[in-house]
Parts: sequence; structure tokens; C-alpha cells
Amino acid sequence: MKVEFIFFLFIFCEFTHVLGEFQFTNIKCNSRDEDFVKFEYCFIKSVNRTYKYMSLGVKLLQTPVTNAKVNYALLKRGNGYKPFLYNMSVDACSYLRRPFNPVNQYFYGLFKGYTNINHTCPYDHDLIVEKLPMNHLDNELTTVLPMPKGDYAFNTIWYAYGTIRADAVFYFTLS
Ligand SMILES: *[C@@H]1O[C@H](CO)[C@@H](O)[C@H](O)[C@H]1NC(C)=O
Ligand SMILES: *[C@@H]1O[C@H](CO)[C@@H](O)[C@H](O)[C@H]1NC(C)=O
Ligand SMILES: *[C@@H]1O[C@H](CO)[C@@H](O)[C@H](O)[C@H]1NC(C)=O
Repeated sequence: MKVEFIFFLFIFCEFTHVLGEFQFTNIKCNSRDEDFVKFEYCFIKSVNRTYKYMSLGVKLLQTPVTNAKVNYALLKRGNGYKPFLYNMSVDACSYLRRPFNPVNQYFYGLFKGYTNINHTCPYDHDLIVEKLPMNHLDNELTTVLPMPKGDYAFNTIWYAYGTIRADAVFYFTLS
């Protein structure tokens, strides 16, 4: 926790001078257990030059879900995608009860206003991230917590009851 916080301050200070533009380049959603979770949609849409968003919707087939964990990791492309700064696991059930970790708060804050995952367990309904606008992420990732330019992948792996049920990878570019 202490180390994470220092890391957080480090990148905050290190990269505050770098401003850029955020673009989603791709998004891939995979069910790893079709009896447990099904993706109903998962896409990026360009409405026009200034309005682009991503949406995803999953159906939970064995509700209520009372145990959920997510591992997320940021990768930056060099010679292949390499781990970059963050690789964390969060207990989704207890995290939302006591959201104190600053790194988790930052990443959760990126989509918090656009999802119905914003409560503690149990989850007994479809989960969505609806029309998360790119310019919102652009602002968070280039102004609030600026990161160096490059191609990134944000890898998420979703567990329930200790078993992998799904993964989703978000590819983006900061230019
Ligand atoms: C882009 O689409 C949004 C939503 O339909 C609209 O509010 C906005 O005015 C459009 N922008 C341009 C430049 O056409
Ligand atoms: C994150 O860490 C876990 C556990 O150490 C590891 O299994 C996983 O491969 C890492 N994820 C990435 C994307 O490097
Ligand atoms: C979750 O999001 C919904 C829709 O944005 C909102 O109405 C609700 O108050 C939020 N709940 C919490 C606990 O933040």
C-alpha cells in the first residue's frame, strides 16, 4: 500500500508535463466460462470526430454472485507489450465498501460514472459500462494523471469464487 502510493506520486510528478491525446484502438472481451458469464456486447463507437465511446454488457448466468475479484494490469508496447507500473488485484466485493487504495480509486474513477457495477456484492443483474466517452478518459489520463506517450493495453481478468470467468483487454494510444 505504501509502495503503491509512492509509485502513484512518482508517476504523478514524473509525467505531469506530458500532455497528449487519448484514443481507444481496440477492445477485446472474452468469456472464459460460457455457463457463468456471456458478453452481450463489447465495442467502441465513433459517433463523430469529437464523440467516441465504448460500451460493454455482460450477462451473469449464475446469480447471485457473492465473490468476485479482478486483476488489472497496464502494459506498454515496446518490443511486444510489457508490464508497466500497475498489476493489481482487487476484491470487488469488499473494495466498493471501503475504497481507500489511491491506485484502485484512480482506475475505478475512470469508469465509475458509467457503470452499474458501482455497488458491493451480491451481483444479481447484468453488468454494463455504458457509453464511456473517450474525452473523459482523455482528460483523466492526460491531464489528471499524465502518462508518457505510447501504445498501451489495459488487461483485466475477472474471477468469481476463485476461478477465471472472463477477461477484457482495452487497447489505447496516447499521442
Ligand atoms: C457529435 O455527436 C454528439 C452526440 O450526438 C453531438 O452532441 C455533437 O454536437 C456532435 N459533434 C459534432 C462536431 O458534430
Ligand atoms: C500480474 O501479476 C500476476 C501475479 O503475479 C501474473 O500472474 C500476471 O501474469 C501479471 N499480469 C500481467 C499482465 O503481467
Ligand atoms: C450507481 O450508479 C447509478 C447510475 O449512475 C446511480 O444512480 C447510483 O446512485 C450509484 N450508486 C452508488 C452506490 O454510487
